[in-house]
Amino acid sequence: MIIVKLGGSVITDKETLRSFRRLACMRLCKELRAARNDMILVHGAGSFGHILASRAGLQFGVEKGDLKKLKAVAKVHQDVRELNSKVLDCLGKNRMKGFSIPPYTVASFASGKMIDFCPDNFERLMDNNMLPVSFGDVVPDRDITFSICSGDLIMLALAEHFRPEKVIFVADVDGVFDKDPKRYKKAKLIPTISSSNIGDISAGTRNKDVTGAMKNKLTRMIEISRHCENCIILNGNVAGRLKDAIEGKDVPCTKVVA
Ligand code: IPE
Repeated sequence: MIIVKLGGSVITDKETLRSFRRLACMRLCKELRAARNDMILVHGAGSFGHILASRAGLQFGVEKGDLKKLKAVAKVHQDVRELNSKVLDCLGKNRMKGFSIPPYTVASFASGKMIDFCPDNFERLMDNNMLPVSFGDVVPDRDITFSICSGDLIMLALAEHFRPEKVIFVADVDGVFDKDPKRYKKAKLIPTISSSNIGDISAGTRNKDVTGAMKNKLTRMIEISRHCENCIILNGNVAGRLKDAIEGKDVPCTKVVA
């Protein structure tokens, strides 16, 4: 089986609050059909999560009784569920039976960390040829009231349990570059990243991102690659790349190894 994450930067416009990129999402869902249901899908929050979460400082947790932050928690949760339902709609229109699994229903959190994870519901859905769909969300937290669970963290928990044959991160760039490719024309794609060359990558900080920029993502991906030999990040804005990668063809991408 494979695990795919549709990053928030491809299915939303990250700069504009709650803007869904329906056409891109529809096309990517069509490409996902190449996996023939042997898959778990995760998606990011993009502008349905990061903008309000960052404005309210939800990445630092919530003091008990902080009404302003609690209101933001409710709104962000509502917004990411709305995004999730848009993704499910695109899947349905492409004849795929998506079923939503919000992270707080399968995992517990303390001090911003996942402290346990129950994969049963994912298994049950796959046994019935359904497609489990999880996503980055705000989650109740034992120590800091609420914290943020990124889609990447769910990916790690899933990879640890399912040991998939392939993990694909769908981004809005070809992979990992030595410099920010959106700012530097001469930025070079790095074909393979491991803990030994992760230092060569510029941090690429996006300040509205509450779950960290590229470097944090890569650290997580290196952890994931300990449970999966084929862990890649590719460009979902180029038609056909996701489908080709699912089918085992060579595509421009960065491979992450332990
Ligand atoms: C973030 O999830 C969750 C919230 C901000 C509530 P991700 O970190 O997985 O989202 P993207 O892929 O960066 O948009």
